[in-house]
Amino acid sequence: MSSAGRPQISSRSVASVNAITTIGRYLHQSGGKRLRPTLLLLSSKLIGDGGQAAIRLAAVVEMIHTATLVHDDVIDVAQIRRGRRLPTCCGETNTSVLAGDWLYMQAFPGALEERNFRMLRILIGLTQTMVEGELLQLERLGSMKVTEADYMDLVDRKTASLFSACARLGAIAAGAPDETESRLGEYAWNLGMAFQLVDDVLDFTAHETVLGKPVAAISGKAR
Ligand code: IPE
Ligand code: IPE
Ligand code: MG
Repeated sequence: MSSAGRPQISSRSVASVNAITTIGRYLHQSGGKRLRPTLLLLSSKLIGDGGQAAIRLAAVVEMIHTATLVHDDVIDVAQIRRGRRLPTCCGETNTSVLAGDWLYMQAFPGALEERNFRMLRILIGLTQTMVEGELLQLERLGSMKVTEADYMDLVDRKTASLFSACARLGAIAAGAPDETESRLGEYAWNLGMAFQLVDDVLDFTAHETVLGKPVAAISGKAR
């Protein structure tokens, strides 16, 4: 990710409430691969130059991703993320849920600055789709009736939808025609599907110290 995006993420993660600042800072300082903002910036670069809009949107998608991780770790009762133990306040479910909500909404002022309804529609639809993915996963947990198509549907909602949105937002920021935006979105959707499939396999084959997060963590353990 461009270094220009980093101050955007860290300044948007500071709140007047300690728990939010602690969780937000912890997640951003631990880094992560920053795949989604990178995808957005590369997509914008492929078309031309998305300028400040692309940088702002790169921070927006990383913040949305971060919010989903906070909620996901509540659901999975995970204690380690990005190779570090989560701060004590994350052990409290209520605190983490509310901090995750706050991080979600903190992403949107950045998007509003673009005054672009197409971008907002993508981001709002995407956020709902991702939450639906996690809800469906909970519903299907432990069911022997889950088919391959059900699984692919989950991966689509949980992960590929965000990858696709990143590429499309980068393309829009750089002024791509609709057809190009849609093709880039399709490419990134496939990348997201492959990424989650590999992540799920690693859940069985990797070690926690290498992966930086718990292995064989079954979503819904919190229930
Ligand atoms: C974790 O995503 C959630 C999945 C979609 C598997 P990443 O593996 O991109 O997480 P970070 O941002 O690098 O920690
Ligand atoms: C991560 O899902 C959350 C989303 C993709 C919304 P997973 O539970 O599959 O990923 P990790 O293993 O916790 O990163
Ligand atoms: Mg998880």
